[in-house]
Amino acid sequence: MSTGGNPRPVLRKQIIQGDNARILETLPSAFAELIYIDPPFNSGRTQRLKRLRVKADPEGKRRGFGGRKYRVEQVGESSYADRFDDYAGFLLPRIEASLRCLTADGSLFVHLDSREVHYVKVALDALFGRASFMNEIIWAYDFGGRPKTSWPKKHDSILWYARNPKKYVFDYDAIDRIPYMAPGLVGPEKAQRGKTPTDVWWQTIVPTNGRERTGYATQKPLAILERLVRVHTRPGATVLDYFAGSGTTGEAAARHGRGFVLIDQSADATRVMAERLEKYTPELVGFDAPLPHQRLPRLARSSS
Ligand SMILES: C[S@@+](CC[C@H](N)C(=O)[O-])C[C@H]1O[C@@H](n2cnc3c(N)ncnc32)[C@H](O)[C@@H]1O
Repeated sequence: MSTGGNPRPVLRKQIIQGDNARILETLPSAFAELIYIDPPFNSGRTQRLKRLRVKADPEGKRRGFGGRKYRVEQVGESSYADRFDDYAGFLLPRIEASLRCLTADGSLFVHLDSREVHYVKVALDALFGRASFMNEIIWAYDFGGRPKTSWPKKHDSILWYARNPKKYVFDYDAIDRIPYMAPGLVGPEKAQRGKTPTDVWWQTIVPTNGRERTGYATQKPLAILERLVRVHTRPGATVLDYFAGSGTTGEAAARHGRGFVLIDQSADATRVMAERLEKYTPELVGFDAPLPHQRLPRLARSSS
C-alpha cells in the first residue's frame, strides 16, 4: 500500500543497560505515551535466576512428550537483591524524574504488591494530585503455596495515574472481551460477545513450561501488558519501562505496533531482552548483543 509519499515514522526501539536514575536524565522529554514499571517489590528475598540446560538422555529423570527422557543441568545462576530499607526513597525520585518523559495525555502504571502499594499510593497522590489517580487494578492469580496461618496472598496491585485526568488515552474499543460468569442470564448475543473486564484482572502467572517463559525472575504475563498497551496508547506511540526485566513491556508494545524504551541495570536482564526482542531489531545501548555461546538455555526461577 502506498503511504502517499509520507514514509511511516520509524518506531523507537531501544534496550538500555544502566541504573535508571542516571539513564532517565538522558532521555528526551514527552516521548512516552505510557510508562509501566514493575520495580523490585522489597520482598526481602534474593530473586535468583538459574540457567538450566535440558538434554535428551535415556537415563534422565524428566519425562517429556512421547515418553522421551531428559537430563536437566544447571549451567549458571545470577540474582538481584530485593531489599530496601527506604523503598519510597528509592522509588519516588525515579518516578518523579520519569514524568518529564511522559506526553501531556500519557499515563503511568506502577506494579506493586500488598507490602508497598499503600505507601507508594500516598506518595503518588501527593506527586500527581489525587484527581490523577484513575484505578487500582488488581491482578489476581492462583498459583503456589497456601499457608494455613493467613489468607494466601494471590494478587498484585497496578496503580494507574493519568498525567491529566481530563485528557488521557483510553481506547475503550480496544479492550478485549472476557466470558460472562453466567452467560445463560444475558442472552446469546451478549454471551457471544463477552464482557469488558473490571479493575480485577484474573490472569494466570507465566506458566513454567509455556512458550512465553524466559525464566527471568519475576517475569510478568504478556496478556496484562498487551491489554495496557492496546488501551492506553495509540498505534505508533512509544512505551517506557525503566525496570524492564525480561522485556515483557517491549514485547507487548512491539506486537501492537508501538515503540519501546526498556531500561535495566542487570546484564542478565538486558541479555534476556536482547534475545527475546531480537526479531524487532532493537538498538542496544550500553551493552553488546549476546554472543552465540551466551545465548540463553532454558531458565528457571527461585527466590530465597
Ligand atoms: C520485578 S523485575 C521486572 C520484571 C519485568 N516486569 C518482567 O516482566 O520481566 C525488576 C527489575 O528492575 C531492575 N532494577 C532494579 N533496580 C534498578 C535500577 N536502579 N535501574 C534499572 N533497573 C533496576 C532489576 O534488575 C529487575 O530486572
